[in-house]
Amino acid sequence: MSRAKRKIDHIQHALKTGQLRENGFDDVMFLHQSLPDTAVHHIDLHTEIGELVLSSPIFINAMTGGGGTETVKINEALSTAAAECGIPLAVGSQMSAIRDASERPSYEVVRKVNQKGFLFANLGSEATPDQAKTAIDMIEANAIQIHLNVVQELVMPEGDRDFSGALKRISAIAEASEVPVIVKEVGFGMNREAAEKLRDAGVAAIDVGGFGGTNFAKIENERRSRLLSYFNDWGIPTAVSIAELKSSVNGISILGSGGIQNAMDIAKAISLGASSAGIAGFFLKILIEDGYDALVSEIKNVQNDLRMIMTALGAGSISQLQNAPIILSGLTHHILNERNVD
Ligand code: FNR
Repeated sequence: MSRAKRKIDHIQHALKTGQLRENGFDDVMFLHQSLPDTAVHHIDLHTEIGELVLSSPIFINAMTGGGGTETVKINEALSTAAAECGIPLAVGSQMSAIRDASERPSYEVVRKVNQKGFLFANLGSEATPDQAKTAIDMIEANAIQIHLNVVQELVMPEGDRDFSGALKRISAIAEASEVPVIVKEVGFGMNREAAEKLRDAGVAAIDVGGFGGTNFAKIENERRSRLLSYFNDWGIPTAVSIAELKSSVNGISILGSGGIQNAMDIAKAISLGASSAGIAGFFLKILIEDGYDALVSEIKNVQNDLRMIMTALGAGSISQLQNAPIILSGLTHHILNERNVD
């Protein structure tokens, strides 16, 4: 199957398979605050990812590119919405456009319609520093995401089977890159041991890409005849992964993603230690099923709702929200206990 066909397939299957609700955020409860001593108009949503200072702690996570006119239209709409709402956008993997210049327009369009916004390039961990530079230059990116997707590749019939040397290649990219390097998972989460190695390799941020939202094991299993269904429930829930990294991996930004669907999920991701939250499948579904205006109004609603939640908690800034008191229960509490996370 061609890469272009696979990309359209992924979008269709992602919409069909949908979002799970197993990200762990239902195990996180905020402790109500009766005297918050703040006001909605005083809430400051500014945050940082590495050296980047952002006006909002929400970004549209990597999805698509390549694949022809349909993906040009999707990326154009996502980037225009990102510009209108003042949030960053990550493009999907650019490897196909590095190998085949005819695939570039679907990536280049994101900068064309969004001259001043924050855009993140995206490649897999097979990339070289030169390929990373090409991807960054293609969209004049402000940062580059390197994705780790071992389980997705294993479940994909035509996927990679050799994952050796990834850390070394990421380290070379981090050393050569003029923009911050963000390493992300794609829905399977990350443990602290991997995150510490990545921090030591010089990456600026880690996006946990946790379990509980879009599920690429399920999506790939729908596309193959002999199922590897044991991978369908595989992964570290988003809430667990954020808390685990926050407890031990200092000196880098932690980004929360995987199954985030609303302002409460975002507030909980930040309270567990994330500095920003990424949303992929949920926004794509709104764009494709309800259109551009619906996507923009959803993003604006999420930003306003986050201000409301922060007001109720008396958290005037993202750093105050990171320190809001929370109570953990259920599986999230259990796993963090087993992992000796306070
Ligand atoms: C993705 N994702 C993804 N990630 C990446 O780093 N490079 C990519 O090319 C893609 N492609 C892609 C296509 C489609 C259709 C979807 C829905 C997702 C993964 C994405 O960035 C994210 O990590 C996961 O989808 C989990 O987040 P959500 O969807 O639960 O918010």
